Amino acid sequence: MKSTWQKFQVRYSSSPSSKRWTARQDRDQFVKKAQSQNYRARSAFKLLELDRKYNFIKPGSVFIDCGAAPGGWSQVISRKVLPEFDITTEGIKDFETKLNGNLIIAVDSLPIEPIPGVNVIQGDFTDISTQQKVKELLKEREVDVILSDMAPNFSGQHFIDHVKSMELCESSLNFAERVLKSGGTFLCKFLMGESDLEFRNNLKTKFDSVRHEKPQAVRKKSSEGYFMCLGYKKK
Ligand SMILES: C[S@@+](CC[C@H](N)C(=O)[O-])C[C@H]1O[C@@H](n2cnc3c(N)ncnc32)[C@H](O)[C@@H]1O
Repeated sequence: MKSTWQKFQVRYSSSPSSKRWTARQDRDQFVKKAQSQNYRARSAFKLLELDRKYNFIKPGSVFIDCGAAPGGWSQVISRKVLPEFDITTEGIKDFETKLNGNLIIAVDSLPIEPIPGVNVIQGDFTDISTQQKVKELLKEREVDVILSDMAPNFSGQHFIDHVKSMELCESSLNFAERVLKSGGTFLCKFLMGESDLEFRNNLKTKFDSVRHEKPQAVRKKSSEGYFMCLGYKKK
C-alpha cells in the first residue's frame, strides 16, 4: 500500500513545476543525504545542525514539534533520545513502556506516517481544539523544547507570506508561554520581512538568549530564518 507521501508524489510528479522541483532535488546534497540516512525530509539537517551548535535535544525531555510533516525533525529527536528504537515502524506499540521519560508530540494539519516513540496529532496548530489535544497528552507535564517549522501555503506574494508566517510564530509562542518550563527552549521558523524585528524584540523579553540562525540546509535564495531561543524566563 502506498504511503500518503508516495500518493502525493504520484499526483504531483507530472506537472512542469514538479519537473523543476525534481531537477533541483537531484542536485541537492541534503536531499541525497536525507535519502541515504532515511530521513523523510532534507529539513532534518537544519535541526541536526542547530542541535550540534546548541545541544538542546536531551534525553528524558518533553518535545513538541509543530508543523512536523512529513516527520524529519521528529525522526531527528526520536533517533537522538530513543536510540534503541528501531527506525522502522514495526512494533512501535511494544516500545511504549520504554520511553524513559521522553515525550515527543508531533502536530501537523497533514497526516504523518508513524515514527517510533512519537505521538502524532493531526490538526491546525492555531486551533484551540488542536492545542487542547496536545495539553491532554502532556498530562500537566511542562515542556522542555517547542519547535515550530510551520510554513504557510505560499501565495507567491512575499509580504502576505511573511505576515502569515509571523502569525504562525505568534501562535506557537503563545502556546509556548503556557506550557514551556523555566529555562526551556523555543525554536521557530519565520520568513524574513518587516515585522520579524518586532517579534525578535518580543522574544528577547522572554528568553535569556535569542539568535537568528540560517542553517546550511536552508536554500540560499530562501528568505527563511530561525529564531533559536534559549532559557525561557517563566513568570
Ligand atoms: C516545512 S514543513 C515541515 C517539515 C518538517 N519539519 C520535517 O522535518 O519533516 C512545514 C509544515 O508546516 C505545516 N503547517 C503549516 N501551517 C500549519 C498549521 N497552522 N498547523 C499545523 N501544521 C501547519 C504544513 O502542513 C507543513 O507540513
